[in-house]
Amino acid sequence: MHESEKPQEKKRILTGDRPTGRLHLGHYVGSLKSRVELQHSYDTILIVADLHMLTTKPSHDDIELISENARGLVLDYLAAGIDPDITTIYLQSAVRETYELNLILEMLITVNRLTRVPSIKDMARAANLSDEEMPFGLLGYPVLQAADILLPRAHLVPVGKDNESHVEVTRELGRRFNSLYGEVFPIPEVLIGDVPTLLGTDGQGKMSKSVGNTIYLSDDEKTVNKKVRAMYTDPKRIHADVPGTVEGNPVFQYHDAFNPDKAQVEDFKTRYREGRIGDVEIKDALAKAINNFLDPMRERYRQYEADTGFVDQVIVDGTERMREISAQTMKDVKSAMGLSGAWNRIARAAEKRRKKIAKA
Ligand code: TRP
Repeated sequence: MHESEKPQEKKRILTGDRPTGRLHLGHYVGSLKSRVELQHSYDTILIVADLHMLTTKPSHDDIELISENARGLVLDYLAAGIDPDITTIYLQSAVRETYELNLILEMLITVNRLTRVPSIKDMARAANLSDEEMPFGLLGYPVLQAADILLPRAHLVPVGKDNESHVEVTRELGRRFNSLYGEVFPIPEVLIGDVPTLLGTDGQGKMSKSVGNTIYLSDDEKTVNKKVRAMYTDPKRIHADVPGTVEGNPVFQYHDAFNPDKAQVEDFKTRYREGRIGDVEIKDALAKAINNFLDPMRERYRQYEADTGFVDQVIVDGTERMREISAQTMKDVKSAMGLSGAWNRIARAAEKRRKKIAKA
């Protein structure tokens, strides 16, 4: 059946990530877990946002890494429980309508509005760019994201807190387009996870690749054991009999997140507060809990990695579906704007002349 004729029973989700590195426990808790759950009740589309990566990493070397990073990212999705039979995964740069809608939307927002999006300055800072060096494309980051979300006419966008302002821009652009040209887009809702941000193994801030305080979903058992053993805990505790602080302690935050034995976790907390337990006992139990949590993912990594080309096939199938959806939307966009009319009139007149000459 053609995409445009398909009855759309389920509401649609569009979300995703830039292909800049492998996914870690913080990504799982923050967004992957809810995507895995929501994929059963929504028509879920995941974007591998390589064009967004270009806003701060446009070099040839960065571009050359896209295919490997995209494969790694998609493998992480699948290992985490994204089901490729029901969820669409696509490569942003391979869908030409992304560039088209981006340009149209650029006409419907002011530079002033974009300079007030807080995450843009954060991203510029993270990329070591001064105000003078702000790329036009980085300022346009939320507009490109709006194109991603509006192209499939998504209803729901589950993202981290740092992306909330981008969805707000999307909603404004959707409303603006609809009021100027007619109802083409549903106005999408944002869904922000309510889980607290997972601390890094260093306990100093959130888990982040650039800091190197991560546990990756793809880490093997030995690596997890080593990272957990080296984790930051309460520095006051120079001996096992010194009372410790549980709050803000990443070891306990991880126990809460990944150890299903709640009674054990409560017992550890009590004894820790009273100085009746050594760090090693708590950490060994944590390493075990994280390894148990990752084991089913490891099984899926093994399966998918053994099937050479499978991940690539998933991306190709998803991209083809997204191209169909997007072509339909752009047809509707251009027709609502009257842009297709301008071209059609010109093309028709040229055709008329061609026929006249052929006859003569
Ligand atoms: N901005 C997202 C990030 O922080 C990636 C992204 C691009 C995205 N397009 C999107 C997320 C559309 C949700 C919806 O990496």
